[in-house]
Amino acid sequence: MPSPLPANQTIEVLYSAESIAEKIGEMADQIQRKMGLEFMVVALLKGSFVFAADLVRALHKSGCRPQIDFMTLSSYGNNTTSSGNVMVERDLSDKIEGKHILIIDDILESGRTLTYAKNLLNERGAASLHVAVLLEKPHKRETDLQADFVGFVTPDKFVIGYGLDHANYYRELPFIGYIP
Ligand code: IMP
Ligand code: MG
Repeated sequence: MPSPLPANQTIEVLYSAESIAEKIGEMADQIQRKMGLEFMVVALLKGSFVFAADLVRALHKSGCRPQIDFMTLSSYGNNTTSSGNVMVERDLSDKIEGKHILIIDDILESGRTLTYAKNLLNERGAASLHVAVLLEKPHKRETDLQADFVGFVTPDKFVIGYGLDHANYYRELPFIGYIP
């Protein structure tokens, strides 16, 4: 599929690479204080892959030694509006029974994706579940899900970059921005 936007499209920067790095360092310290040193990270793909890669290295600096696994959930398809349905496209490869889990996602919007993930991992016998998101859009919530660790509370704009996509483009941007 061709890019939905022209190559010379201007992108307004919301959070620079530097401010994201600083925030992630703070989040890692908060996570270490609340969860201790031993837990398992479940990163939700695709959107969280950049955030998760930086967060686990910040967790290392904070003294943590997490196990790491990935799960691909889909709720959006290629549109910018949620379909409402969440499904597992690719499952974890490890058992999570009895483990303390930190779920990592890029952004908490309606909360449907993370509610689905939490329920699923709960059914599989996780010892505890915490949620870390880099971004939160508080006015879009359709569930009562709360994230335990939040980087930035974002304005109500469709954001791209740093793992977040529009039609699977722009994930490679080192900053987070929006199309003005
Ligand atoms: P929720 O299930 O409505 O909370 O949506 C969460 C998922 O929707 C995230 O993991 C993202 O993949 C996607 N999403 C929500 N808002 C945005 C956005 O502004 N930009 C890019 N992706 C988004
Ligand atoms: Mg996503």
